[in-house]
Amino acid sequence: MTDAGQRRNFYGRIKGKTLRASQKGYLAEDLGPLTLRGVTREENPSRSALDMGFAKGPLWLEVGFGGGEHLVHMAARHPEVTLIGAEPFVNGVAMLLGKIRGAGVTNLWLHPGDVRDLFDVLPDACLSKVFLNYPDPWPKARHHRRRFVTPEYLLPLARVTAPGAEFRVATDIPDYVRQTLEEVPEAGFSLVAQTGAGEAWEDWIPTRYEQKALREGRQPHYLTFRRRAPEF
Ligand SMILES: C[S@@+](CC[C@H](N)C(=O)[O-])C[C@H]1O[C@@H](n2cnc3c(N)ncnc32)[C@H](O)[C@@H]1O
Repeated sequence: MTDAGQRRNFYGRIKGKTLRASQKGYLAEDLGPLTLRGVTREENPSRSALDMGFAKGPLWLEVGFGGGEHLVHMAARHPEVTLIGAEPFVNGVAMLLGKIRGAGVTNLWLHPGDVRDLFDVLPDACLSKVFLNYPDPWPKARHHRRRFVTPEYLLPLARVTAPGAEFRVATDIPDYVRQTLEEVPEAGFSLVAQTGAGEAWEDWIPTRYEQKALREGRQPHYLTFRRRAPEF
């Protein structure tokens, strides 16, 4: 049984410092039209599958897009693709909306909340690429089970990714690399590449967290996985 009917624990931040007037305007005007309907429990208590009419071409997902620089960059760089971004931190969502206006991209949809709620309602095997950039590190050993690279997140991710789909993970935390290499293959993905500083994907742009990591002397790690065909 999934815990689709239950409230989930979310340990991250939902709100940060006071939003600028312009950001409040983006949230008031742009968030509604760009938000996927039928993701939250309030809108979809039976957790039925989303109407995928919004998706034109391949469907990609970014988990925890932060300020949205990578997500908007990908949307502009790949106009033939539909992108979804999931991010519960309202200040990040407001930053993304400003960047969407600036870039004028129209192939991007949002779930301004926990990605697990989105996983509940996505159809099987609908995603062909997924980005996890600088996920929350949860450095204390007793908090490692809160990381994205645990079965609670990875098994639903595996269900909604198509065989052959790419799953990219960027992190600056060596112990996060360790756990990713242990847990992601268990969930049905094979490692295809593991690189470091200066060897990111050809369409990569450094995110805010990567820039912070580099300033503070930590090194990026880039891991690429491919979804295996399910075994029967
Ligand atoms: C360390 S920040 C990195 C942000 C951005 N990807 C970057 O590289 O600058 C991790 C982000 O993941 C988001 N996050 C944490 N748990 C999440 C969840 N369950 N669903 C979606 N996003 C989540 C956080 O709100 C936060 O913005």
